[in-house]
Amino acid sequence: METRQKVFSGLQPTGNIHIGNYLGALKNWVSFQDSYETVYCVVDLHAITVPYDPVEFKKDRIAAAKVLLAMGIDPERSMFYFQSQVPQHAELSWILGTMTPTGVLNRMTQYKEKADKVGANLGLYSYPVLMAADILLFNADLVPVGDDQRQHLEMARDLAERFNNRFGEVFHIPEAYIPDVSARIMSLTDPQVKMSKSDANPKSMVLVLDVPDAINKKIKSAVTDSDPGVRYDPTEKPGISNLLEIMSACTGVSIDALVDEYATSGYGVFKQAVADVVIEEFAPIRVAYERLDDADVARMMHKGALDARIAAEAYQAKVRAAVGLDRI
Ligand code: AMP
Ligand code: TRP
Repeated sequence: METRQKVFSGLQPTGNIHIGNYLGALKNWVSFQDSYETVYCVVDLHAITVPYDPVEFKKDRIAAAKVLLAMGIDPERSMFYFQSQVPQHAELSWILGTMTPTGVLNRMTQYKEKADKVGANLGLYSYPVLMAADILLFNADLVPVGDDQRQHLEMARDLAERFNNRFGEVFHIPEAYIPDVSARIMSLTDPQVKMSKSDANPKSMVLVLDVPDAINKKIKSAVTDSDPGVRYDPTEKPGISNLLEIMSACTGVSIDALVDEYATSGYGVFKQAVADVVIEEFAPIRVAYERLDDADVARMMHKGALDARIAAEAYQAKVRAAVGLDRI
């Protein structure tokens, strides 16, 4: 029997899911369900490495699961659960931590950025080790993520190799799947910086659950430049290039073809076309989200975790045996 390759990815349930998350990673999560064995996880243990309010967090966690379900993550076809409900993630993270040089962790750019902003803690420091454990726990082959996760993926690959060299071939070496277009969607208010959930300015990002009027306003007021030609040039025209990437990733039409179509149409017409495409992309997700009931979603996630625990335990037993921690 042919076994399908395995895909794993995770999303932190912090705040609002934006178009960068969607086009950088989540849209691929949905389409990979057609041809891969898929495991998707709401990584709540990662999310608590920065300051948070537990009451809000509980709501955000369910909301994140609901958005993913509304996008088309199908629990019949994907394993889908909350990371904290499958303890093997944390166990494997500990084992991998014992073979992670601190020098490697010191070089992680996301750690340095977050530690500067919110203060360092051990969880934040070992965040990439837990991420490697997520991926390796299920022996994933392919990991759909945005460009900002490249360095973490490289570390996961190194850890897999290090483990295999020392203890025998246990892990597959995972590959990042990073889209050519839209791997790094930029802020709408400052196209020099990445669109980020933690940006305090709500106009900087279009959210997957934004109503059409909000999407329209945010895209129409996106910061661009004063030269009116629509061209792809991320250095000279970062705002317009970002909108071209958004439109291309939503429609599947190449950037070159979009430039041919809108080169001389003026920014007003072009921005309206982008807004229309995004509104159309997100409308069905918002409708599906409204139909989902929190209690049903909680039950679904509980069931997902039960299945994931059984699957994870089968892999984790091999890891324990390899390192001499077999259950006796
Ligand atoms: P996070 O919300 O940090 O868990 O990110 C979820 C996914 O979205 C990850 O695969 C990120 O790489 C991706 N992502 C986050 N921000 C962006 C962005 N501005 N552009 C493209 N992908 C992004
Ligand atoms: N660090 C990832 C992010 O911020 C989230 C994540 C955690 C993840 N574990 C993962 C992504 C495993 C892919 C695979 O986006």
